[in-house]
Amino acid sequence: MSGVINFGIGEPDLETPLCVREAGKRAIDLGYTHYTPNAGYPELREAIAKKLKVENGIDVTAENIIVTTGASTGLLLSALTLIEPGDEVLIPDPGFVIYEAIVNMAGGKSVRVPLIEEEDFRMTPEKVNELVTKNTKCIFLNSPHNPTGAVLEFSDIKGIAEVAMDNGIYVISDEVYEKLVYDGAKHYSIASIPGMEDLAITVNSFSKTFAMCGWRIGYVAASRRLINEMIKLQQYTVVNAPSISQMAVLEGLKNPKVKTFIDEMVREYDKRRRFMVERINKITGFKAKLPKGAFYIFANVKELGLKSTDLAELILEKAAVATVPGSAFGPNGEGYLRFCYATSLANIELGLERIKKVIEDIR
Ligand SMILES: Cc1ncc(COP(=O)(O)O)c(C=O)c1O
Repeated sequence: MSGVINFGIGEPDLETPLCVREAGKRAIDLGYTHYTPNAGYPELREAIAKKLKVENGIDVTAENIIVTTGASTGLLLSALTLIEPGDEVLIPDPGFVIYEAIVNMAGGKSVRVPLIEEEDFRMTPEKVNELVTKNTKCIFLNSPHNPTGAVLEFSDIKGIAEVAMDNGIYVISDEVYEKLVYDGAKHYSIASIPGMEDLAITVNSFSKTFAMCGWRIGYVAASRRLINEMIKLQQYTVVNAPSISQMAVLEGLKNPKVKTFIDEMVREYDKRRRFMVERINKITGFKAKLPKGAFYIFANVKELGLKSTDLAELILEKAAVATVPGSAFGPNGEGYLRFCYATSLANIELGLERIKKVIEDIR
């Protein structure tokens, strides 16, 4: 289908910063084209440890870091390391689709934590506490959140850490959208809470923050015991994250131009976020709140009385606009559509105009 406007895919539309691209090219010429240590280049592990200390308040060294092929592999290695058959694992619902899949792969049982609009889709300590049993092994935490854009408050993070510490439960904290926060919202890493050193597994990547999804670099920070297990798993599967991409990311972590790039990117997303919410709310039957993070809007379409899959299909067919049905993120996502605003303002305007017209026609 040609001419489709894509609000579906969660990928930055911006180019990777120039200095990072150049470092990638340089890495090829300098011969960084071989296997790397399984855990990643030592200088990159060090730079990541430093970033975590300075920006996230997490007290780690290079030994606590494994470089992975994106956060996706980091999440998988974490799940395979922690989860034993029969373990219960709390996952957000709605939530990023791979959590349930990797819990299944590891033989665990997903327990859905319902996130509701009335609570701004926050995973609250109270909800987590209610669902914890003696079989709970870990919790997947994701803030800023895909698909709702929710950002947890410090009190939520602290409260969830307390539940984890009281019950000896691990927390796999997926922080890939950490830089994408708006309206003065702040990102907090659960690993920075005293007492969480052995229980928190921080998973992150450069896909969204450095606009480099295809380069496939992410990382996990955790206790040395867990990281050593993950290195063994990586050794027998992926072997190592791409050498050239590792060198490019190392430059990105050191070069101050990337900080400026991120600041500008966030300002641009913020503009699009406001514009998109305003336009979505002009469509009959659509209601959207201003989310505080990530680059998604989770619009309530319950008034239309259609299944979210049917509505997304109708919009794709008649308006040539791709969105993601909320139910793709779990049963609690039913009645919502996810819109990604990592696309131009012109596309946002045109795509939402087309949807508005289609909805007016069917009513
Ligand atoms: C919440 C969340 N975690 C992890 C990822 C995976 O990112 P990566 O490209 O680093 O594998 C995504 C990608 O969309 C995501 O939305």
